[in-house]
Amino acid sequence: MIRRGVLLVLGATCAALAGAADRTPLPMSARWTVPNQLKADLTSEPGDCLTAPTDPAQTRSIAIGAAAFRAPLLLGGQAARSGLSCNSCHRAGHDNPAFSYPGLSGAPGTADVTASLFSSHRGDGQFNPKPIPNLAGDKALLKIDQSQDRGELELFILGLITQEFDGPTPSPAVLTGLASYVRALSPQACRAPARIDLASTLVRIDAALDSARRSAQSGDGATAALLISSARSQLQLIDERYPASLSRSAAPLRQAAARLGAIERQMISDPAGGLAALGQWRRAEPKWKRPLQASEAKSLYNPAVLSGWLSPR
Ligand code: HEC
Repeated sequence: MIRRGVLLVLGATCAALAGAADRTPLPMSARWTVPNQLKADLTSEPGDCLTAPTDPAQTRSIAIGAAAFRAPLLLGGQAARSGLSCNSCHRAGHDNPAFSYPGLSGAPGTADVTASLFSSHRGDGQFNPKPIPNLAGDKALLKIDQSQDRGELELFILGLITQEFDGPTPSPAVLTGLASYVRALSPQACRAPARIDLASTLVRIDAALDSARRSAQSGDGATAALLISSARSQLQLIDERYPASLSRSAAPLRQAAARLGAIERQMISDPAGGLAALGQWRRAEPKWKRPLQASEAKSLYNPAVLSGWLSPR
């Protein structure tokens, strides 16, 4: 019943948005944001609060976690289809006071992670939204014990992915990476809020693909595939910033994204072949990056263009 109601609400929201003439659809990243926060959330994001470990293995694990945290595919099912990742609720590891998802949120900034919308396992049939906790805040305020030896955090995250959401069991490196990422968040390490632009998104794609390359080199195709999916969802976020009038600038990006999707699938069965294909893909990056950079000022990355685009809503 809950599920059905939610889908109706979502359908109505989409119809209302489609009514806004032939405009670009609302960027995926903004769909769950209360309207008066849209501009702020589309232009900047809370600063990173990651402590930098000295151990290189730990650094690699955190990098895997950081990319997986932004991969909707990790959560599977309905969440993956609607572009929802850990980061949608915990922005850059923080909370998200503007998060509002029909059927899942009560007041903005809350979510019911036991709602049957996302889970065929744990849906409790009751609407019970809770404030989204700031994972980058004081650890003493958090409920789950993060000490390494107990492994409670790993168990909690595994339950979240496979039970609360309908995600497939993540690879061991991805699960460890997510826990490493959450443990490495510290209020003392927080940087200033970061502007969201093409360059900052490209950095994220590079980081995810660097991690994917290392995983594939060690024969871990499942982890490499998930990390590539994280990069692909960032490509999608870029695409959404280029409205139809800039479709020529975005056409090479779309082709590159499709090619990357094929490499992601190849990684599972043939990590060595996937690795070679990924190398080729990365050497060809300037072909799709340059046209985007050349027209970034006309895209929705430009706050002035974004304001004009948001104003009639
Ligand atoms: C739909 C929003 C949403 C998504 C997506 C989400 N979370 Fe959360 N998360 C919450 C809420 C709400 C709580 C608090 C639940 C409670 O209090 O019972 C929470 C709690 C947590 C906690 C426990 C905090 C504590 O108090 O110790 C961790 C850790 C966490 N989330 C990590 C993640 C990770 C990792 C992902 C992705 C796999 C994720 N979350 C995805 C909303 C979300």
